[in-house]
Amino acid sequence: MFNDVQALILAAGSSSRFRTKKTKLLHTICGQEMILYPAKLLDSLNVPATFILGHQADKIKETIRKNNLKNVQFVTQKERLGTGNAVECSKETWTKNNILIINGDIPLIKEDTIRELFKKHEENNADISFVSTRIFNPTGYGRIVIDNGSYRIIEEKECSAQEKEVNVINSGIYLMSTKFLSENLSKIPRNETLNEYFITHLIKIASDQGLKVQDVPASYDQVRGVNTLEELWATEQIKRSQLMKKFMYQGVRFELAQNIHLDADVEIGTGSFIATGVHLLHGTKIGEDCFIGAFSIIDNTTIGKNSKIYSHTVMKDSITGCCAKIGPFARLRDNVKIEDNVTIGNFVEIKNTTIGEKTKMKHLTYLGDATIGKSVNIGAGTITCNHDGTKKNKTIIEDEAFIGSNNTLVAPIKIMKKAYTAAGSTLTKEVKSGDFAIARSRQVNKKDYAKKLKKNYIENDKNKTNEIKFVGAIKTKGYNEETL
Ligand code: UD1
Ligand code: CA
Repeated sequence: MFNDVQALILAAGSSSRFRTKKTKLLHTICGQEMILYPAKLLDSLNVPATFILGHQADKIKETIRKNNLKNVQFVTQKERLGTGNAVECSKETWTKNNILIINGDIPLIKEDTIRELFKKHEENNADISFVSTRIFNPTGYGRIVIDNGSYRIIEEKECSAQEKEVNVINSGIYLMSTKFLSENLSKIPRNETLNEYFITHLIKIASDQGLKVQDVPASYDQVRGVNTLEELWATEQIKRSQLMKKFMYQGVRFELAQNIHLDADVEIGTGSFIATGVHLLHGTKIGEDCFIGAFSIIDNTTIGKNSKIYSHTVMKDSITGCCAKIGPFARLRDNVKIEDNVTIGNFVEIKNTTIGEKTKMKHLTYLGDATIGKSVNIGAGTITCNHDGTKKNKTIIEDEAFIGSNNTLVAPIKIMKKAYTAAGSTLTKEVKSGDFAIARSRQVNKKDYAKKLKKNYIENDKNKTNEIKFVGAIKTKGYNEETL
């Protein structure tokens, strides 16, 4: 069906109705730039595409190139002289016998509508076909008017009051023979009001010549255009609902579906539960039977099956095996790799670290640039000192080691298999396999000294006006470790 066709994607517009600095075509819908929706669709159909670029051309090119689309080329429209002029700028790239033209701002378009356009075009031996739709509020769109069997598309600004009532609109997708386009493109007149050449005028040109014009109706939700941030919002809602419906059908429960952010390429396994306010971002894969707790943000991360990610957890560029228990309030970022059955509790931050199976760190820990073995226990409040001011250093903790609470592990450092470290230690040297390391000052108990301190306290308290005075009073009495 698509052998002898090439596509032109109109993408040079200035996005003035968006009122943002960035071109609308690079704003994302469910995590994917708007321009990539028609671009990827054409790529999947093996239709070569010419992008007509102008405003922020380099940035759009870069986005398309990054996605390794097979058969794309780019041309520049130097002046924004309308959709007809944009097509004119691509003339040198025309090599096939048929041309499909698509506005770059129709992100919800799907294969079935493109196929229907081709089918009707061929069946009816049309010279030019276009996709139309009927909508409740046609404001902003070109209206389709049939006058004595002759088609015209009239832009909003050109419509009479009566024409404004027409609710069948042009969607901005056209198919025609290259011959027809070559012969008629230069006949499009310049619109005096807007100083633009309208591609839509080709419909009138064909009709006036008695050529066959084919109107192909489609669902509005597939062809809605995005000219404003409000339309972007509405379009993203539709896209997200479509993604969620697919997952719901596959057995994924969204606790409060309208409150969840879901990017287009996310995968979620059957039986998983996604709680309120969760963000599942670009590149994320959730296994089967997982629980993702409220307000967690999972970004480009793979989570193994049967895992529980408790609320307010943030994970980025990381991978977990199955049966992980992470959070609440945990943060994993920049290349964290976790094997099966690992427990990571609240207020734990982990960066660029691998963790072996059945290892646990339940509270208040920082691990950076570390390799942690299997069945390791890391006590509350333990941190790796991975940065010495100039470079990052590695911490290695081998299988079945036990790290006491509140340890400071000054990297580079290695704690070997089955070693134990005492709570409160600041470790700077390797601990050999099976050894016990204690690195803290010894406790000294002074017989009855508490009473003396209490006396000082009461005396000072009589004259005390504020906390600072009290501390000063103790100091003048020589309260320091040496005199004790
Ligand atoms: C266009 C149609 C309108 C249709 C609507 C459907 C015209 C004149 N009007 O209006 O009938 O109902 O789409 O969504 O075509 N562009 C260029 N160069 C330009 C101007 C625009 O490449 O000089 C590109 C834009 O980047 C955009 C596309 O063409 O991707 C459509 O332009 P836009 O300004 O959005 O047209 P609409 O006003 O929506
Ligand atoms: Ca538009």
